[in-house]
Amino acid sequence: MNNHITTAKYGPWALITGGTSGIGRALAEQLAEKGLNLVLVARRQQLLDKISAKIADKYQVEVRGLKADLSDVASVEYVKEATEKLEIGLFIPNAGVENHGEFVNGDMNKEMRLVQLNSVTPMQLAHHFGSKMKERGKGGIMFLATTIGYGGTPFFSHYAASKAYILALGEGLHYELKKYGVDVTVLSPGGTDTPMIENFGFDMKNLPMPMMTPEETATAGLKALGSKPSVIPGFQNNMMAFMSKHIMTRKANVSMAGKMMEKLMSPEKEQEQLERQEPQLETIEV
Ligand SMILES: NC(=O)c1ccc[n+]([C@@H]2O[C@H](COP(=O)([O-])OP(=O)(O)OC[C@H]3O[C@@H](n4cnc5c(N)ncnc54)[C@H](OP(=O)(O)O)[C@@H]3O)[C@@H](O)[C@H]2O)c1
Repeated sequence: MNNHITTAKYGPWALITGGTSGIGRALAEQLAEKGLNLVLVARRQQLLDKISAKIADKYQVEVRGLKADLSDVASVEYVKEATEKLEIGLFIPNAGVENHGEFVNGDMNKEMRLVQLNSVTPMQLAHHFGSKMKERGKGGIMFLATTIGYGGTPFFSHYAASKAYILALGEGLHYELKKYGVDVTVLSPGGTDTPMIENFGFDMKNLPMPMMTPEETATAGLKALGSKPSVIPGFQNNMMAFMSKHIMTRKANVSMAGKMMEKLMSPEKEQEQLERQEPQLETIEV
């Protein structure tokens, strides 16, 4: 599977942000299986150490864990410096967070950190690694968006907007960088069974689309790398996307998404989300 993923094209190093959990971890495993060395960036040191050692041992590749909070503006320079001596042939800005509830009730500091993590840091690092790949005439970038980033999504308005930015950026770069031998794809997952979903505080099983596994989502993304500007994994997610694009108006789409999200949410759940604290980074059980 995914035989086009080789160290010659995308190696010797792949950098995956958020490579310690969910989709990022599945991507890390699939790339290590292909022989790529990895730099995994995340905040929890213990988890980084544990996952890095596991993957290195299992696939006999080099794995380096880099502790950084990518919602912090200063982290971009830190990542650039820490990887200066490595040839990063594949860059996957996968780390992301969601916020939900009524936008105007949200905390502005959290919203600013969300857009830094989901949109600005990936853009800045794609500029950095992409220019080096252009010089080398090879490499790849795979961005992470979401199916709900294809249009306005009430109660996930800012999260969807941060991913719409990434979708547009990545699709444009797909064309710009193709002639230099650099592949760019945007992976837009639907519901995927990861810790992010567990933290939503409402039951995603109430959604019409079935959940995918992180491995399935990761495989679909890597399959599209080198051929498609963007990809939505899964048959049902694609059916929904087809209907949204070709059958329904934008107005109907927003209204349907709003009603669906309203059903999932309740004032109590919104309050829980507002009060949710960032995890205690060093004390989480790994
Ligand atoms: N799961 C879904 O249904 C779904 C659907 C559509 C799109 N996506 C997108 O797919 C991507 C991966 O999601 P996931 O569900 O796999 O997430 P996840 O399981 O919650 O994992 C998130 C990863 O990102 C890291 N991370 C989070 N905040 C960070 C920060 N500020 N700085 C550095 N690293 C950070 C986490 O490690 P630390 O906590 O240790 O930092 C972890 O490794 C995200 O961009 C998400 O928006 C997911």
